Amino acid sequence: MKEFILRSLKAKTSPFDINDLKNAGRLDLVCNCITNALFIAGDLRRDAKIHVVLEGPNNPPKTISFDGNKLKGIEDEKSIAIKINEALIKSSGLTLNEELDINPGISIAKKSFEQLVKDKSKSNQLIYLHKEGKDIRKTHLEENSIFIFGDYIGMPRKTEKLLDRLKAQRISLSPIMLFSSQCIAIVHNELDRRSIKL
Ligand SMILES: C[S@@+](CC[C@H](N)C(=O)[O-])C[C@H]1O[C@@H](n2cnc3c(N)ncnc32)[C@H](O)[C@@H]1O
Repeated sequence: MKEFILRSLKAKTSPFDINDLKNAGRLDLVCNCITNALFIAGDLRRDAKIHVVLEGPNNPPKTISFDGNKLKGIEDEKSIAIKINEALIKSSGLTLNEELDINPGISIAKKSFEQLVKDKSKSNQLIYLHKEGKDIRKTHLEENSIFIFGDYIGMPRKTEKLLDRLKAQRISLSPIMLFSSQCIAIVHNELDRRSIKL
């Protein structure tokens, strides 16, 4: 399984205008990431999952998880945005850490980024994507690696300290600062080339 976690500090956590994703805390970038994590030409990546942690107004935190193996009826970024909006509407009453299924392959939880990475650290090798990290081409990746990255704002220092405490390995994909969605495409390409079945 190939698994990704995006932290989106400003993305809305209450209903938004699906025709104006940019002004919904850059949900356009979140949808780009989901597309790159799960879509390939003519199919979905059945061995991939992405969790997007939304922390903008008015009801943070919300973690929405997409599982390529179970996903149905999702064709493009617009249909992803519609499902995110539906998930936010249906999850308004969730209590902390409670989870709700929205669609085959889509669930939402009132879970924080910190709680999610702590949970994942129990069974996965955490990889924090960082421009100054160790070159991915010189790195052995464990089969249970999970790739964590920030949005256009980046990762807060406090969170980086938590990731250090959880022994997340910092891995660089390029000497250039990339968009989050580009990072996902590069990770997939590295794993595809290594033919790792994660
Ligand atoms: C658009 S970048 C963040 C830019 C932000 N202004 C900053 O300075 O951190 C989004 C995320 O992609 C990841 N990223 C960007 N470039 C990378 C690179 N060359 N190697 C590894 N990860 C990278 C990082 O996790 C980063 O938080």
